[in-house]
Amino acid sequence: MELQELKAQALAGLEQTADLEGLEAWRVRFLGRKGPLSQFLRSISSLPLEERRLQGESANRVKSSLQDAWQSRRESLRLAQVSTSQSGADISLPGRPMPLGRLHPITQTFRDICAAFQSLGFEVVEGPEVEWDYYNFEALNIPPGHAARDMFSTFWVDYTDDKGGHPMLLRTHTSPMQVRVMEKTEPPVRVVVPGQVFRYEATDATHEAVFHQVEGLAVDENITLADLKGTLYEVARLLFGEDRKARFRCTYFPFVEPGVDMAIDCAMCRGEGCRVCSGTGWLEILGAGMVHPNVLSRVGYDTQRYTGFAFGLGVERIAMLRHGIDDIRLFFQNDLRFLRQFR
Ligand code: DAH
Repeated sequence: MELQELKAQALAGLEQTADLEGLEAWRVRFLGRKGPLSQFLRSISSLPLEERRLQGESANRVKSSLQDAWQSRRESLRLAQVSTSQSGADISLPGRPMPLGRLHPITQTFRDICAAFQSLGFEVVEGPEVEWDYYNFEALNIPPGHAARDMFSTFWVDYTDDKGGHPMLLRTHTSPMQVRVMEKTEPPVRVVVPGQVFRYEATDATHEAVFHQVEGLAVDENITLADLKGTLYEVARLLFGEDRKARFRCTYFPFVEPGVDMAIDCAMCRGEGCRVCSGTGWLEILGAGMVHPNVLSRVGYDTQRYTGFAFGLGVERIAMLRHGIDDIRLFFQNDLRFLRQFR
């Protein structure tokens, strides 16, 4: 039989095999020792050398292509057999992807902010979310009845024990941790405090009743407003890159003197003025200042020897600026289409 004809016949037969037994029969028939190929190869042994070489080569080519075809047929028959066996489940189907979780953009921002301050020598500490009136207000130079309490819309907590009522609240800022840290440590102090804070407030594109801050405090000899500005400029550079503009303005916070706020040029409108920056071109990201001597002396620090700076920064604002997000409420709606976009 012609070699090419044999090959065509063998391949057609291979197509017909339905299972591994049929395949084995095919192999014995076409590739076995008594098969036509082996017979052919034996029969050319009497031919002259050159002729034998040519015939042998083409027979071997046919043989190896049949072997390849046999191998791939064996694979597919095997797969078909396995995949429909037992439960009837098709195990050759691709698997279902395992959903991989990721960090919430606020958590990511917390980590980036803390890492920036850590690189400058600040230590990270955390404090309670339910706080005494004393730490949230009084020790921060906001005595009962002081008008500055109006700056903070507060969730009060009813709490009484056998000695009577003690005013407690959901902390309105992370600043109470300044006092808690100073009560426990002697200067030098360099801490940042990431945490959740609460205000009894209506929500809109830039306000939420629950949000996040990072507080900072540095107390030492010879600390000046220049240290505050240098530190915060450097952190703004680390978080936003070189080309971001930052602005300091004087403002009032009872626990610092002087007090400032720092703003970054609005990412949404590049300073033109839009909904996010209320048309000003700037977004305030933090309040800061030189720690008020009343605050230092209340924890027993020598105000002749020590000065310090403090700041409190809004984490949502920073995340909005970095990612160009125009509504703070998006962070807390658990919409995966939004959350999946971050890292
Ligand atoms: N606690 C202030 C607030 O939530 C922010 C703040 C301002 C913190 C000045 C500070 C500071 O440490 O020095 O509005």
